[in-house]
Amino acid sequence: MITAPSAAATAAESYLRARHDLTPGLQSEGAELLLAADGRSSYRIMADTVAGARRVLDLGCADGWLLERLAEAGAETLAGIDLSEGELAFARRRPALAGADLRCGRAQQLPYADGSYDAVVSHMAFMLMSDVEQVVAEVARVLVPGGMFAVAVGGGAVKGEARDLFMTLARPLFRARSTESQVPELGDRRTRRREGLDEILVPHGFEPVSWEPVAVDRRGTPEQVWEMLAGMLYDMHDLGEEQVAQLHDRFMTDSQSLVAPDGILPCGMWINHATTRLRSAQQIHA
Ligand SMILES: C[S@@+](CC[C@H](N)C(=O)[O-])C[C@H]1O[C@@H](n2cnc3c(N)ncnc32)[C@H](O)[C@@H]1O
Repeated sequence: MITAPSAAATAAESYLRARHDLTPGLQSEGAELLLAADGRSSYRIMADTVAGARRVLDLGCADGWLLERLAEAGAETLAGIDLSEGELAFARRRPALAGADLRCGRAQQLPYADGSYDAVVSHMAFMLMSDVEQVVAEVARVLVPGGMFAVAVGGGAVKGEARDLFMTLARPLFRARSTESQVPELGDRRTRRREGLDEILVPHGFEPVSWEPVAVDRRGTPEQVWEMLAGMLYDMHDLGEEQVAQLHDRFMTDSQSLVAPDGILPCGMWINHATTRLRSAQQIHA
């Protein structure tokens, strides 16, 4: 049963909608530069995971970067849903997505028919969603039995590299903001752990997840790394100009010791890829 969003969900979703409407396309800008050791981006890893699925739905599709990769991988029927109309406007401009069913809405209330997808994916978005049980119930409804659900969730910085340093310097500034300018609590922490995902998914008829932590690297000059980190974190957008300037200077100084002789600063982060399948009625009752 679909219930009305809680007050916390409404606050979180209003924040996400406004933030993404202001900076559409930012999320996947340079996404192909976030590479795993085998040279694939996290988006390509996800597209490869569901390769062979003919009908695929992307939850929190934003500007459609992953959907475009799925089209390249051979999916024939594509759909995406996102809270942000600004992001979707970007997705609609992609020629590869001319036939895709792109909707502005909530993953907790999917406007798609029962059993209409062979795979549902969500890249760095499921972890931000409120009322995840409702999302998962909807995913189970729109998947065919045996259908795949694949999510990529953030796993934090690679220790001792640029992102780790950046967070160490930025966290006290994020915490010092007034209550009104704090980013609201986003998502359910359980979605970031293997056991937590099983706790949410298994009661809805899914198998326990396969879990693959992947380190992706966005190395570059210190200035390039700064630009990327400062652009990708929600918390950065609400810092004052002076604080951003101070953080920038401190990051430039402290990161010098991490720069390799070729001038490149390593900047790794973990993205955890979790994959499961919806069990069929026979499997559940066996
Ligand atoms: C961090 S971005 C990731 C975007 C994209 N999947 C990617 O990896 O490039 C998270 C996206 O999820 C969307 N989102 C968050 N909660 C949502 C919900 N409940 N329903 C639909 N979209 C949601 C946001 O609007 C945002 O575009």
